[in-house]
Amino acid sequence: MKTHIENLLNNCINKLSNEYDINKDLVKNIRIDRTKDKAHGDFATNIAMLLAKSLKKPPRDVATLIIDTLDKSDRIEKTEIAGPGFINFFVKKDFISKQLKSMLDDERLSIKKIDAPLNIVVDYSAPNVAKEMAVHHIRSTVIGDSVVRVLEFLGHNVIRANHVGDWGTQFGMLIAYLERKQKESSEDLVLSDFEAFYREAKLCYDSDEEFAVKARSYVVKLQGGDEYCNKMWKKLVDMTMTQNQEIYDRLDVTLSKKDIMGESLYNDMLPTIVDDLMQKKLAVIDDGAVCVYLPQYKNKEGEPLGVIVRKQDGGYLYATTDLACVKYRVEKFNANRLMYFIDSRQHQHLEAVWDIARKAGYADDSIVIEHDAFGMMLGKDGKPFKTRSGGTVKLKDLLDEAESRVTKLLEERNCNISDADRANVIHNIAIGAVKYADLSKNRLTDYIFDWDLMLSFDGNTAPYLQYAYSRIRSIFRKTNEPLGDIVINNEAEESLATALLAFPDAVDQVAQKAMPHILCTYLFNLAGTFMHFYEACPILKDDVDENTRRSRLALCELTSRVLKQGLGLLGINVMEQM
Ligand code: ARG
Repeated sequence: MKTHIENLLNNCINKLSNEYDINKDLVKNIRIDRTKDKAHGDFATNIAMLLAKSLKKPPRDVATLIIDTLDKSDRIEKTEIAGPGFINFFVKKDFISKQLKSMLDDERLSIKKIDAPLNIVVDYSAPNVAKEMAVHHIRSTVIGDSVVRVLEFLGHNVIRANHVGDWGTQFGMLIAYLERKQKESSEDLVLSDFEAFYREAKLCYDSDEEFAVKARSYVVKLQGGDEYCNKMWKKLVDMTMTQNQEIYDRLDVTLSKKDIMGESLYNDMLPTIVDDLMQKKLAVIDDGAVCVYLPQYKNKEGEPLGVIVRKQDGGYLYATTDLACVKYRVEKFNANRLMYFIDSRQHQHLEAVWDIARKAGYADDSIVIEHDAFGMMLGKDGKPFKTRSGGTVKLKDLLDEAESRVTKLLEERNCNISDADRANVIHNIAIGAVKYADLSKNRLTDYIFDWDLMLSFDGNTAPYLQYAYSRIRSIFRKTNEPLGDIVINNEAEESLATALLAFPDAVDQVAQKAMPHILCTYLFNLAGTFMHFYEACPILKDDVDENTRRSRLALCELTSRVLKQGLGLLGINVMEQM
């Protein structure tokens, strides 16, 4: 409410400053105070006294002028001038109550579905075949998935595009090695350690000439559509994605196998794309390769950046695939917005590709294409997050460690959890903590991965928010009293009400900016505001009258629902008891 009045006054000053020369320094001293005696309204401001000099009028006249200039507001009952020139605001009593009531009555908590849903293609996760999911994939996966949930909740038509790295010359070597491994064992090969598989394959390739020759011939065969090589390649893709699906499920990420749109999907389009670029005179042949020059991007030497779309040997590149992929997404899904959750180091690559795609007419100006970039995940030492021996941390190991840390933590805290619930609680806290640590930071910055901080029960963490939720639910286990009309009688209640009503806006911001940390900050503030309310406003004590108690219970109910829905949009579960 205070901010609302502040906005009204600021608008008013802006209007007045067209006519009067207003000293901007004075404006900083404007006070909006809550009145002690409600007979004088709910808020009072000294603005008229401050502006009297600039406006060369007596304060009471200035007050009249201000009141006449104020925008109409559906939240203000009336205004009055008091004493030497104070302006008193009488707030419409039922305004906030009514809004809270409609929020409470609405399953969607006053978040409206969009009138004109967009087709939004979201490129996220995108791990590589025959590799373990690495740290930057957890960022893309978790942040992308949260934005997907928000967009879908708002009613958009979202297409998840898992741009899996499933193509490239390395597949000759991988097929040759898979073949060798299969010959060695009679049983069906199960790959549990892709890191080792890849390393060993590379070792054979580098040290065994016969193997290398075979590997190279397999690349050619695979590209030529050879049936055997294709079958082996598919096997590698399937094994990888089956393993990754386990990770997605464990992370409560909404991706499934049907969302896979790997690089290979675009293979057939690549020759046509290159021909098309040549024909449109966007590409030139340079030293046998096909290249597009972009004068607005300069390389280190200050020359225009050249993007190769076909190599001398006829092979295509990552950039060619990404070009095809813009065309595909626009045509196939009639996309209005293309979002790419990819780490910030690929920014120039993407910008260059999209520039070409626009010039070639694959995406017109009405289509929004955006790089929703993110920084790196760093260790406590500020260096890229690595294992003790300096290797990449496998996502699976990271999640295992999270769960074992939470198991220990719950033992230490002597939590009262039934054996039946235990596994679920551990899962929710561990996964929630890891995801929230990532989601709660502005994605554009690097962030420091710190077990102790993310698992703490106070601070801006998932366990803190999950605990806040459980704590509110525990109130309802102590009473059967029905919820009542919400009446706002003091500052703690009003702050909570204001925080609750800001929920739809926070969600909307996440959708617009693709930044889940906005929602995290919102939820963290809401939980803090609730804790303050909870200390200041007794609920179940004997001396609380029935209307007040029922009103406060309704505020508790609404807070818990916003926390649950908000965390849900982040892909984090809550528990009734923890
Ligand atoms: N597979 C790539 C990597 O691991 C990410 C792909 C991102 N998506 C895209 N359309 N280029 O870095």
